[in-house]
Amino acid sequence: GLKIATIGGGSSYTPELIEGFIKRHHELPVSEIWLVDVEEGKEKLDIVGNLAKRMVEKAGVPIAVHLTLDRREALRDADFVTTQFRVGGLAARMKDEAIPLKYDVIGQETNGPGGLFKALRTIPVILDICKEMEELCPQAWLINFTNPAGIVTEAVLRYSPVKKVIGLCNGPIGITMGIADQLGVEPERVRIDFAGLNHMSYGLKTTLDGKDISERVIAMLAGWERDGITAKNIADVGWVPEFVEALGVIPCGYHRYYYQTSTMLAKIKEETERSGTRAEVVKRLEDELFELYQDPDLNVKPKQLERRGGAYYSEAAVQLIHSIHTDKRDIQVVNTRNNGAIASIPDDSAVEVSCIITKEGPRPLTMGDLPVPVRGLVQQIKSFERVTIDAAVTGDYRTALLAMTINPLVHSDTVAKLILDEMLEAHRAHLPQF
Ligand code: NAD
Ligand code: G6P
Ligand code: MN
Repeated sequence: GLKIATIGGGSSYTPELIEGFIKRHHELPVSEIWLVDVEEGKEKLDIVGNLAKRMVEKAGVPIAVHLTLDRREALRDADFVTTQFRVGGLAARMKDEAIPLKYDVIGQETNGPGGLFKALRTIPVILDICKEMEELCPQAWLINFTNPAGIVTEAVLRYSPVKKVIGLCNGPIGITMGIADQLGVEPERVRIDFAGLNHMSYGLKTTLDGKDISERVIAMLAGWERDGITAKNIADVGWVPEFVEALGVIPCGYHRYYYQTSTMLAKIKEETERSGTRAEVVKRLEDELFELYQDPDLNVKPKQLERRGGAYYSEAAVQLIHSIHTDKRDIQVVNTRNNGAIASIPDDSAVEVSCIITKEGPRPLTMGDLPVPVRGLVQQIKSFERVTIDAAVTGDYRTALLAMTINPLVHSDTVAKLILDEMLEAHRAHLPQF
C-alpha cells in the first residue's frame, strides 16, 4: 500500500484528510499515514492523531496511523508528502493580519503583506523539506496545501530539486460545489475552466452537461446580494451587478480585496473591533475543536470544522492523489508549472489552472491569453509573487521592500517601509534568512 507523510499533522484539518482516505480506501490503497509535527505542536499532534487512529479503527480500514516529531522517519520511502503546516502558528498569523491594519492596509494571510510574510517564513522550511525528500523519497509527489500555496509551490519549482510538486487550494472545488447547488444540479455535471493564480483565479467558462452556461452563471452571480459560494474566512459582500456582468468571468472570493478594497477594509476593521482578527476567531474555534477531539467517544469528523475556510480540503487532496495513482486523466484545478498554458504568465511560474491529472502529474489545459480586463492584475500579482520568492530565498531587505510596495493592496513606498520594518521585527524568530 501507499505511504503518506503529512507535515503539520497537528492541524485541526487532519480529521478531514483522514476522512477522505477512509472514504476512498476501496480504490486508493493507503496503508500508512505518518503525521509529523514540531515540538511546539506535540500536544495538538497527540490529540488529533489519536482521533485519527479512532477514526480508522471505527471505519475498519487497514491504515496504520503513526505520530512523530521525526520528519526524516516520516519522509523515508513515502509515496506522497502532503504539507499543512503553519510556521509560527496562529500567533504569527495574528501579526500578519493586525500590523498592516494599523496603517489602513488589508493584512490578509495569503494576499497582502500578510501573504508576503507567511511566504518569507514558510519558504526556507519547504526548501529544507525538499532537500530531505530528494534524499529520502525522491520518487514522491509533494502535495502542498501550505499557504500562500501558489507562491510556495513556485518556490519549490524554481529553487529546489523537487519537480513533482503540486499546490492545492480548496477554493475552486468550493465555487463549483456552490454553483452546482445554486443551479440545483449534481456537482459532477458542472465544469468550470479555471485560470489564473492561487487566490487569484477566474472561472473563465462554465458548462452543464457539456453545454456552455457561462452567461447564465454570471447573471446569477450578478443578481445575488450574497453569493453563497465564498469560503468562511472571507466576508460575503455582494458585487455591483453591472461590474460582474462586464467582467464576464467568475471572480474568486479573494478578488474582493482588489475590486472592493475600501469596502473590505472597512469590513475587516469592524470585524476586528468586534471579535478580533481572523486568527483570533480561528484560535477560539480551534480550542473548541481540540476540546471535542479529546473526547474518547468521538470517532468521526465533527461538524464544527465546517466553520473553517478549508471546506473540501480532503476532497481536493484525496481525489488528486487518487488520480495520480490510477492515471485517471480527469480534470482538476491545481497549482502547477505554467509551461505556456496561460500565455501572459512566465513558463516557469506556478499558475492555478484546470489540468488533466495523469500519473506523470498535471497537464494544464491550454488557456491562451487571459481576457484583457483581468490580465493586468494577474500579471501584477505574479510579479509580486516572484519578487516575494526572491526575497525569501536571498533575505535581501530591498527585495522584500520591493515586493511589499508592488502589492496592489499597499499604496505607497513609505507605508510599505513602515509595515515591512514593523513586521520584520515582529517575526524575527521565524525569519532566519534576514
Ligand atoms: P495550524 O496553525 O494548526 O498549523 C498546523 C500544524 O503545523 C501545527 O500543529 C503546527 O505545530 C505545525 N507546524 C508549524 N511549523 C511546522 C514545521 N516547521 N514543520 C512541521 N509542522 C509545523 O494551521 P492550520 O490552520 O491547520 O493550517 C495549516 C496550513 O494549511 C496553513 O499554512 C494554512 O494557510 C493552510 N491552508 C491552506 C488552504 C488552501 O486552500 N491551500 C486552506 C486552509 C488552510
Ligand atoms: C480558504 C482558503 C485557504 C485559507 C483558508 C482560511 O478557503 O482556500 O487557503 O487559508 O480557507 O481559513 P481559516 O478558517 O483558517 O480562516
Ligand atoms: Mn486556498
